[in-house]
Amino acid sequence: MTTTTNGPGEGRHPMTGNAMSGEARGGMERHTYDVVVVGAGGAGLRAAIAAHDAGARTAIVCKSLLGKAHTVMAEGGIAAAMGNRWPEDNWEVHFRDTMRGGKMLNNWRMAQLHAQEAPERVQELEDWGALFDRTEDGLISQRDFGGHKYARLAHVGDRTGLEMIRTLQQRAVSLGIDVFMECTVTDVFKDGGRVSGAFAYWRESGRFIVFDAPSVILATGGIGKSFKVTSNSWEYTGDGHALAMRAGASLINMEFVQFHPTGMVWPPSVKGLLVTESVRGDGGILKNSEGERFMFDYIPEFFRAETADTVEEADAWYEDKKNNRRPPELLPRDEVARAINSEIKAGRGTPHGGIYLDIASRRSPEFIRKRLPSMYHQFKELADVDITAEPMEIGPTCHYVMGGVEVDADTQESAVTGLYAVGECSGGMHGSNRLGGNSLGDLLVFGKRAGEHASTYAASLGDARPQVDEADVKAAQESALAPFEVEGGENPYSIQSDLQQSMNDLVGIIRTRTELEESLGEIEAFKERARTMVVEGHRQYNPGWHLALDLRNMLVVSECIAKAALAREESRGGHTRDDFPGPDPAWGTKNLVVTLDAAGTGVELHEKTLPEMPDELKGYFA
Ligand code: FUM
Repeated sequence: MTTTTNGPGEGRHPMTGNAMSGEARGGMERHTYDVVVVGAGGAGLRAAIAAHDAGARTAIVCKSLLGKAHTVMAEGGIAAAMGNRWPEDNWEVHFRDTMRGGKMLNNWRMAQLHAQEAPERVQELEDWGALFDRTEDGLISQRDFGGHKYARLAHVGDRTGLEMIRTLQQRAVSLGIDVFMECTVTDVFKDGGRVSGAFAYWRESGRFIVFDAPSVILATGGIGKSFKVTSNSWEYTGDGHALAMRAGASLINMEFVQFHPTGMVWPPSVKGLLVTESVRGDGGILKNSEGERFMFDYIPEFFRAETADTVEEADAWYEDKKNNRRPPELLPRDEVARAINSEIKAGRGTPHGGIYLDIASRRSPEFIRKRLPSMYHQFKELADVDITAEPMEIGPTCHYVMGGVEVDADTQESAVTGLYAVGECSGGMHGSNRLGGNSLGDLLVFGKRAGEHASTYAASLGDARPQVDEADVKAAQESALAPFEVEGGENPYSIQSDLQQSMNDLVGIIRTRTELEESLGEIEAFKERARTMVVEGHRQYNPGWHLALDLRNMLVVSECIAKAALAREESRGGHTRDDFPGPDPAWGTKNLVVTLDAAGTGVELHEKTLPEMPDELKGYFA
């Protein structure tokens, strides 16, 4: 598919290149829609398709090029209990696995809807043209992943996210949905507490756009760029999280950050790049520098009953998955990442500060090249390593944030009427730790739901739609241009770089009270530095200015993460406190929720009791 880059100051359809309906008012480009979707990863595309199908005039606004999304980094597959490999798999088992993976802190209703609806969403993707790998019987193939009892990840080699994006993008474009790409949203407008639209700028020209729309769906992905070592690319600066907070919504579970166990550690230019969990799902094992398969030393009580504790038993699982306990390499990600971190800290790391991931000694070169083609090329081309012949060096990398906008489970609406959030920028579904493959299922299931509900709500308004206040437009414009007004401050790149280092060092995999307090002190100092940061040049394509605007978002989400991490005095999922090792039952019933303070300059924290799970669902955990 070819796309046409948007002209400055003008929305263009990505296929035809034609200008989309809009008008200039007060010298500013202006468009009217029913539903505006911010972000064009899997969640945004699926939401836009649903909104369009429900009859809404829909636009997608994305800060990057269409098709460039972190969804692509979910390489291994879409978790869905289709039962193609194991007929005994069903939504109840998937629901149970998801809740246990999240250490029971998940919003149970979201986990239930996800498990129930994911198979239908995968099937639909196939109907729209996704080419999945097949079983011997011609069904969609499903592979093993950590924390899932059965092989249930529908996959396309190790490029599943890419195929998902390709399919959804093609559908959205063929439906004629308007796309504004390389266009960044900086504000959500409200009228009497309800959403009335959004404010954005073209990255190329620096010119502003106003969207009049009663429904805005945030689908901006994660926050990984706040950390130095990450699988996320430049776009993931917590934009949706921060937009929602500034509009008056709350975030939930922000202390839980997922460090994927396997990112590249060498060469430095690609440090953090994802190495898919499929390598372990397809038989790869982890070894330290002494050649020891160390994961047997790190099996937590919580998963002991179903985890093999000898090499023989673990290896037997590959022959007879049904009757044997799973290898410890397939524990949930938080457990594996912590174990790798401990081995490296104990001095048993590789020359480049990682651990070995070995599939070469366990699978044939043909098998590896067929099942893991991207990994084969990634290591060959970037590190000159042939993974069919030698082990990979890997280490944890910041991959995903479980925390996000607090939403209603059924509709994905936030506390602000007309403001919705989906995918990684929403919170609750994954509790304290997400199972691999559940992000792709999540964005399909809840993308569809959000699009439908946002559309229904917009239609229900008739002619009584909330109006964008011109004073708010002026304020948004002034706020966006503020970095040009400062003289003599420092440039945003140095602040960003210091923030990333600080978050990595002080709010990383293992946390302590002292370090978290230090981090909050540093974040305050970064905020002060950001108030006087200076942007050179003019508004035409100016990455320094773009970063200055993104940095505001990065700072607010970093503060949310550090504050919530300091408050939660226990270890659970993607939050490990050295000074509070192990889960505390008292914290097992509580979520932490964050909002902006009254001045809008700091973050406030509240405790919230988890919603009670119905008895019939509790039965699955007996
Ligand atoms: O390892 C992976 O392929 C990543 C999958 C995911 O984050 O769901």
